[in-house]
Amino acid sequence: MRRRDFLALTGLLAGLALTGCGDVEGNAGSLTFRNPLRIPPLLDPRADGDGVKRFALELRQGSAEFLPGKRARTWGINGDYLGPTLRARRGDRVAMAVTNTLGEATTLHWHGMRLPARMDGGPHQMVQPSETWSPEWTIDQPAATTWYHPHPHGETSEHVYRGLAGMFILDDDEDVDLPSDYGTDDVPLIIQDKKITADGRLDEDFGGTWGLLGDQILVNGTYDPHFRVTTTRVRFRLLNASNAHVFHLGFADDREFHVVASDAGLLAKPAPLNRLRISPGERFEIVVAFEPDEQVVLKAFSGDETIDSGDYDILKLAAAARLAPSPELPRDLVALTPPVAGRKVRRFRLGGSNINGQNMDMNRIDEVVPAGARELWELDNVTYEHNFHIHEVRFRVLDIDGARPPEHLSGPKDTVFVPDGARIRLAVEFGHHVDPKTPYMYHCHILKHEDNGMMGQFVIVEPGTEDEVPRPSPKTGHGH
Ligand code: C2O
Ligand code: CU
Ligand code: CU
Repeated sequence: MRRRDFLALTGLLAGLALTGCGDVEGNAGSLTFRNPLRIPPLLDPRADGDGVKRFALELRQGSAEFLPGKRARTWGINGDYLGPTLRARRGDRVAMAVTNTLGEATTLHWHGMRLPARMDGGPHQMVQPSETWSPEWTIDQPAATTWYHPHPHGETSEHVYRGLAGMFILDDDEDVDLPSDYGTDDVPLIIQDKKITADGRLDEDFGGTWGLLGDQILVNGTYDPHFRVTTTRVRFRLLNASNAHVFHLGFADDREFHVVASDAGLLAKPAPLNRLRISPGERFEIVVAFEPDEQVVLKAFSGDETIDSGDYDILKLAAAARLAPSPELPRDLVALTPPVAGRKVRRFRLGGSNINGQNMDMNRIDEVVPAGARELWELDNVTYEHNFHIHEVRFRVLDIDGARPPEHLSGPKDTVFVPDGARIRLAVEFGHHVDPKTPYMYHCHILKHEDNGMMGQFVIVEPGTEDEVPRPSPKTGHGH
């Protein structure tokens, strides 16, 4: 892009910001917590005696009741809204059969998974109507809370918003004593803001700077939810599967809780907090202690920007009169090696809806990375709030505006919030699935930004063959 065009685009985007939607009110005080929290069912894999765990997923249309007595048209996976929880162990061979009965093309991406690019489910792996896509790979990464969702270029906002998302829990053989009884003391919380019309439908008003900021919350697809606590500690696997909203989570009584894991795995030790910021695509696992008979509401507290404004009630936790004892919180979780930044530096300037002044081009490979590389990726956010997600990798946050990150952001991650004006440096660790023809994505996980082209592509190649990948002519408007 020529500099003149770049300036014109910047001006246009600044104009958009001024006309963008105002602050969101939130739902605080409006709920009665009448509905039991839905727990997404664990999908049992089929074992064929060949050692492969086979999961069948059907993407389909459905309908759901969010507001009492009113129906919304939705999309879901093996159900009406959201999908089942998948679970596999390090070393497992998994095979998916993803059947698309939606009537339009989409994809299914395994967010947080290290796998060959052809299996990644990004915009290059479209699943046409009535087709079945069958990726297969070996789980080769530590225990983590990952997730899956569509990734069709330009339409991810709509497809996720309508209900296509699910959790994918990975286990390993590390001996860590955390609550782990799924649905009882190890509980997924898929948090999504929605706009719901007066007659109960999902409003698809993806306008303005952020795409969609809703004033209602669904947890695991449940409107107005409560969860009955039966143990003295509960581990919650938090996933922000919203289109844009950034939540500052905490409890109504400001109690302390402990973060034990971030996107890509366990922390070195539990990190105490009473407020936790989570942006779209991020996951954190927290452990919360409860007293018999108490009730407390999980909330999101308003921040200073449009993207995190509004006070929300999210979920009421109601403890039983007798609680089964849980394991003590371990002092140490897993041994993490210090982050290795590597010497290769790549810089990404996050603009209004672009990266380094460029919009996503499915036919352009932006970065070529040698297999197994350790690199330093530097993010410079010049406009609005964004976040940044890299497929395939795990990274560690080295610093935020020159300062070391807080404990809970020091562990393994794949998505990071980037405040307006911030510079964040990441130590990125790439895998070994070489494929010079099929790219992985990196992008802002505010889905409207991603759909507007705030995304780039990288391939992983055999070290020494980097120059064999056709590259675009040198970028302009790069600024470095
Ligand atoms: Cu959660 Cu590229 O995606
Ligand atoms: Cu991803
Ligand atoms: Cu963004």
